[in-house]
Amino acid sequence: MNTLNKHLETVRINLADRSYDILIGENLLGQSGTFGQLPQAAAALIVTNTTISPLYEATLRQALSGHYKQIHSVHLPDGEAHKDWVTLNLIFDTLLGRACDRKTVLFALGGGVVGDMAGFAAASFMRGVPFVQVPTTLLAQVDSSVGGKTAINHPMGKNMIGAFYQPQRVVCDLGVLKTLPARELSAGLAEIIKYGPIADMAFFDWIDANMDALKACDTQAMAHAVKRSCEIKAFVVGQDERESGLRAILNFGHTFGHAIEAGLGFGQWLHGEAVGCGMVMAANLSADMGLIDLAFVKRLTDLIERAGLPIKGPVLNAQDNAGQYLAHMLHDKKSVAGDIQFVLMDGLGKARVSAAPEAMVRAVIDRCCA
Ligand code: NAD
Ligand code: GLY
Repeated sequence: MNTLNKHLETVRINLADRSYDILIGENLLGQSGTFGQLPQAAAALIVTNTTISPLYEATLRQALSGHYKQIHSVHLPDGEAHKDWVTLNLIFDTLLGRACDRKTVLFALGGGVVGDMAGFAAASFMRGVPFVQVPTTLLAQVDSSVGGKTAINHPMGKNMIGAFYQPQRVVCDLGVLKTLPARELSAGLAEIIKYGPIADMAFFDWIDANMDALKACDTQAMAHAVKRSCEIKAFVVGQDERESGLRAILNFGHTFGHAIEAGLGFGQWLHGEAVGCGMVMAANLSADMGLIDLAFVKRLTDLIERAGLPIKGPVLNAQDNAGQYLAHMLHDKKSVAGDIQFVLMDGLGKARVSAAPEAMVRAVIDRCCA
């Protein structure tokens, strides 16, 4: 597919007739071949935002120009605070305003916010049009662009309105990571670290040994981290596409993390920052429940700190901080009949989903917030 790219790696997501490839390599974005053999259409719509468009839209347009007669674009306002109905509607306005049809292919050029919104728009426009993920953040390359979860936020909860809808392809161009601000790179490292404790301790050891190279955005190190993360996610999603069981382990750190995001207001902490800190809390809870020892909690906490991420949660309420966390966590999609469910480590490299005694959860929140 790509003669100019000597380091192209492909990870396959096996989902019967919804299977697709994740392409990982350098200089993928600007090559026409990267976008060959997709569903045929007269028009494409590039969904991106005001920050990413000046950096990469022209390159993508050039690569798509041999495949589509018309290439439209929509530039969304940047940020998690805009992952909402109003911004989603801008995509529909453009699709309808440009007389797009049900074959139009959407290209999500951006981080997880653009990817989640473009994916949801693709899932619902004319009851479903094809879309391609072109993730430009580390977080999006290792997690959000893969597996078909699409959504927008509601003021009362993260990713509350959305759909499972798989892309036709995911294109991870490692070159675009070079323009990523350091804080965003760290946020992506949180989701990479996540895969170790829940699924692959050898990968965790590798991340530990290569953290400096990853923070420096070394291409070889990034290629391995993106590929291994996508392999683990592909395996999990291949077993449980719609999260009826196993897939929930990918939410390690997210129950606490979503409470931080919603509690502070979306966009205050980055999603990856909240997940990093949430993993510290989830590991502490796992240790308190006797499932792992404290030595690993310290090792994980140190690695998250070395990744440049916060390890102490914010105080959401001076009077009853734990109560405030619990109130937000009740809205988590994993909650069942009012019982908050946590992804806990169950030994090293394994995870399980379970409720936890409220007193223990409160103690962890008290200990882990500052
Ligand atoms: P983001 O999409 O907000 O992007 C982060 C910032 O980096 C933005 O300001 C963006 O404009 C900028 N940016 C993107 N690419 C850039 C580049 N190459 N160079 C310079 N700047 C660039 O944040 P994110 O961390 O990518 O995604 C977070 C979102 O992903 C959250 O909404 C979260 O809920 C969602 N998410 C979804 C899934 C899923 O499975 N669907 C999984 C994890 C996270
Ligand atoms: N990011 C969690 C999932 O895709 O299931």
